[in-house]
Amino acid sequence: MNTRVPMLICCLAVLPVRAAAQEENCLSCHEKSSPMVVEQWRGSKHGQNEIGCLACHDPGITKTIVSDRCPEKVAVVVSPAVCANCHEDEVSQQKGTKHAATLHFFVNVLEDPWTVKGANSDPERAIGCYMCHGSIVKDTTDWINWPNNGVGRLNPDGSLGTCTVCHSHHRFSLDEAKNPTTCGRCHLGPDHPQIEIYEESKHGKLHAAGEKWAPTCYTCHMGPVRDNATGKEIIPATHDIGSRLYWELQAPESTVQKDKINHTPQPEVAKKNREAMRAVCMQCHVSRHADAFFEKFDHVVADYTENYFRPAKKIMDELKEKKLLTPRPFDEKAEWLYWYLWHHEGRRMRIGAAMMGPDYAWWHGAHETKIRYIELWHEAERLKKLGRPDPAPYVPGAPYEKGPNLRPGIDVPDLRGDGAR
Ligand code: HEC
Ligand code: HEC
Ligand code: HEC
Ligand code: HEC
Ligand code: HEC
Ligand code: HEC
Ligand code: HEC
Ligand code: HEC
Repeated sequence: MNTRVPMLICCLAVLPVRAAAQEENCLSCHEKSSPMVVEQWRGSKHGQNEIGCLACHDPGITKTIVSDRCPEKVAVVVSPAVCANCHEDEVSQQKGTKHAATLHFFVNVLEDPWTVKGANSDPERAIGCYMCHGSIVKDTTDWINWPNNGVGRLNPDGSLGTCTVCHSHHRFSLDEAKNPTTCGRCHLGPDHPQIEIYEESKHGKLHAAGEKWAPTCYTCHMGPVRDNATGKEIIPATHDIGSRLYWELQAPESTVQKDKINHTPQPEVAKKNREAMRAVCMQCHVSRHADAFFEKFDHVVADYTENYFRPAKKIMDELKEKKLLTPRPFDEKAEWLYWYLWHHEGRRMRIGAAMMGPDYAWWHGAHETKIRYIELWHEAERLKKLGRPDPAPYVPGAPYEKGPNLRPGIDVPDLRGDGAR
């Protein structure tokens, strides 16, 4: 972080004299009312470097929600724009990630059936999607959107995300951020089991056994990379978590990495990313080991696409063409079977292969994808015999049940800036 020293001097220079007195005030109350906050802050690099409460909670720094609970005006929301005053590099790297752009992607680009077409309700989104992806924190706080600790939350000042996703307030700890369980809060479960895959991998097992050479999520996706021969750092540590990925493994059909705003494939970027990830492996493995791994992994992606995804999509296309499905999302069995095939089992197959988790790649992955395909085929045959769609008469929690509420509570800026939605 080469900007830290000058930024720090600048921050200390502009810190108003009255701030010191106000901070005494903060402590006088909060030592009693919020002992955890004060103790964590004292133990942190911020507390030790005299970065006081108002360095982050001064409501004049950026547009925020001002609290009515203290004698002074204090900011309730502390966004990355605040951290940027002193940590410019980390914030600008985080800005360009899928972590930050996630709400834009699923509202503006994907028009995700869950959020945009109303397949689930506000309470469901508030306890699910928004806790991982982030919510829209507006001027007035409400239970749907606040509190929120999601990777792409939209702050009142327009900045995206919150740094406390990986550095909880008020410890702002590096050890926490480097721990795989921090990522595993969101990267888990049936549809993206990165933590489970990691834990069952040889790397994860070695990490659990206390091996210092065992790579973690941080090592492969964010950590600095050294060249063993020269000892030189060839790739710096980064907060751009997507910068070493080749594939879009989460997509129904995997393509090379896409850009985060317009979502167009970027083969050159993907190639560079692959080289970076290979360089990560080369810190501990020989080239034969690393290259054979990537070849195996790429074959799995091709196998999934050709032998599982495309045949399943063909079935769905035929059902749509024959008008054997309603236009509503997720009110029919075939839609669910198809969804499980790519979104659950098909992802596990690909992500399991990417991160060396054989049980996920095969038993929870390819094997279950096979069975799901057969179920989908049977359901399609049934619909063809029936000759009409066969939706459930009622779908719990779907706003479309109550009328044309197609965009429930979602207002996300379009990062493409062309006004098109
Ligand atoms: C006179 C006592 C007092 C002082 C002085 C004080 N606070 Fe508070 N603060 C409180 C109380 C009480 C709450 C609310 C606690 C609750 O609702 O459980 C609070 C809440 C907060 C919150 C959460 C606000 C919200 O609406 O969610 C923040 C942030 C905060 N204080 C920061 C500060 C900072 C920074 C200072 C110094 C500039 C400060 N406080 C000074 C008593 C005080
Ligand atoms: C480095 C930035 C930073 C500093 C310094 C800082 N805070 Fe905070 N504080 C935050 C963030 C971030 C949040 C969470 C708000 C959010 O999610 O936007 C927060 C939340 C809080 C809350 C609400 C906690 C809860 O979980 O209910 C209180 C109270 C608070 N701060 C008080 C203080 C006090 C008192 C100090 C000084 C001893 C202080 N903060 C120093 C960044 C900071
Ligand atoms: C006014 C300047 C300032 C602001 C604002 C600020 N920081 Fe810091 N931060 C510092 C300084 C100074 C250090 C200590 C640097 C060092 O020891 O090399 C630090 C260190 C850190 C560290 C490393 C901790 C460690 O153990 O090494 C993290 C993580 C961090 N800050 C996160 C944040 C986040 C997140 C925010 C916004 C919520 C924030 N900071 C806001 C000045 C600031
Ligand atoms: C437990 C945390 C969590 C919850 C809850 C969650 N997601 Fe996700 N979601 C993720 C993660 C992590 C990924 C990235 C998966 C990957 O890249 O392999 C993701 C991926 C996605 C994607 C694909 C984005 C892309 O780049 O292709 C969409 C769309 C999405 N989620 C929407 C939703 C919606 C809508 C909900 C609620 C109905 C939801 N998610 C609930 C964590 C979560
Ligand atoms: C996805 C998780 C994640 C998020 C989100 C995240 N960080 Fe970090 N951060 C890390 C990890 C892991 C490290 C450890 C890097 C190291 O030690 O090399 C780190 C290190 C840091 C450091 C210390 C850098 C150094 O050179 O010592 C600072 C400062 C920091 N982060 C600030 C931020 C700020 C500001 C944000 C919000 C824009 C943020 N982080 C968001 C995971 C995260
Ligand atoms: C609060 C939830 C949360 C945490 C914690 C979190 N992530 Fe994510 N991550 C997500 C979501 C949601 C997405 C998918 C966003 C999308 O595709 O729209 C994602 C996507 C990613 C991607 C894919 C990026 C791309 O460009 O395709 C990587 C890699 C990643 N995260 C790594 C990490 C690592 C490493 C950590 C821990 C240091 C971490 N994440 C912590 C929620 C989280
Ligand atoms: C040994 C290195 C390594 C470790 C450790 C590792 N990953 Fe990965 N990860 C990879 C590789 C390789 C890929 C596939 C890259 C590509 O697309 O070519 C990947 C892909 C991903 C993706 C993208 C999935 C998608 O849908 O496109 C996410 C998200 C992710 N990893 C998160 C994590 C998390 C979270 C952890 C820790 C629990 C972790 N990784 C541990 C190497 C690693
Ligand atoms: C920080 C060191 C480190 C890094 C970085 C690293 N590995 Fe490993 N890897 C190990 C160690 C240690 C083992 C265990 C050696 C053994 O099999 O006895 C291992 C084992 C493996 C295995 C054998 C697993 C099995 O189940 O048979 C594969 C495959 C592998 N690594 C691939 C990779 C790939 C691909 C990358 C880069 C994306 C990578 N590793 C990055 C240290 C590392």
